[in-house]
Amino acid sequence: MKYLILSDIHANKEALSAILSFVRRKPWDKAVFLGDLVGYGANPNQTVDLVRSLRPLTGIRGNHDKVCSGIEDGELFNRVALAAAMWTRKKLTKPNLNWLRDLPEGPAVVDGQFAISHGTPIDEDAYIFGEIEALNVFRQTDFPVCFFGHSHFPVIFGLSPDAITTILTVGTSFRYKLKPGVRYLINPGSIGQPRDGNPLSSFAIYDSKARAVTIYRLPYRVYEAQQKILKAGLPRPLADRLAIGR
Ligand SMILES: [Fe+2]
Repeated sequence: MKYLILSDIHANKEALSAILSFVRRKPWDKAVFLGDLVGYGANPNQTVDLVRSLRPLTGIRGNHDKVCSGIEDGELFNRVALAAAMWTRKKLTKPNLNWLRDLPEGPAVVDGQFAISHGTPIDEDAYIFGEIEALNVFRQTDFPVCFFGHSHFPVIFGLSPDAITTILTVGTSFRYKLKPGVRYLINPGSIGQPRDGNPLSSFAIYDSKARAVTIYRLPYRVYEAQQKILKAGLPRPLADRLAIGR
């Protein structure tokens, strides 16, 4: 099976559309979504509609999905994130708001092949930035392979019996074959708001038969996404950061 792994889309229709047209030439069997479909970007409904149209689809909620759909009030959000979440809550149609509200909490296991979580499999709102956090998660769980999002930073952590290894992707298409006897935590990066200093949209395809993951970076119409954010009256930093990937 080939899994299309999507995370942190953040209502960026331009970025998601670029990915969906790219994968028309790369057949996949199931779409897997790691949370944060909305929040920050200017096209929440169009983005939810696009993801809902992917079949088959399995997914979990992110922290922004919770606040934008009214499950949480966002008291831990910074000013910019909270303003965007409240704007999004008002813009979402009732069916889309209800669909987001009904997204399950992670972790979930997909087809017995791998686990998915938004932040970590222990706490959906917690971050994995580096090896210390990754090691803590490895120690408290037993998933052989887990995909996660939330940090907006594409990375692969591998735990062998002796050591933990970090693999940071650099190119625009990075294929990595998983090694036997090694456990993995894999972040496909963010589609709609990359934060690794690279503005290219980021996602992954996991081939469970070959046990290989490929992380792709794709250009998209950043200027158009920025103009929509400004026109909607959303905070300017949300538009500015898209150009620099921060
Ligand atoms: Fe996010």
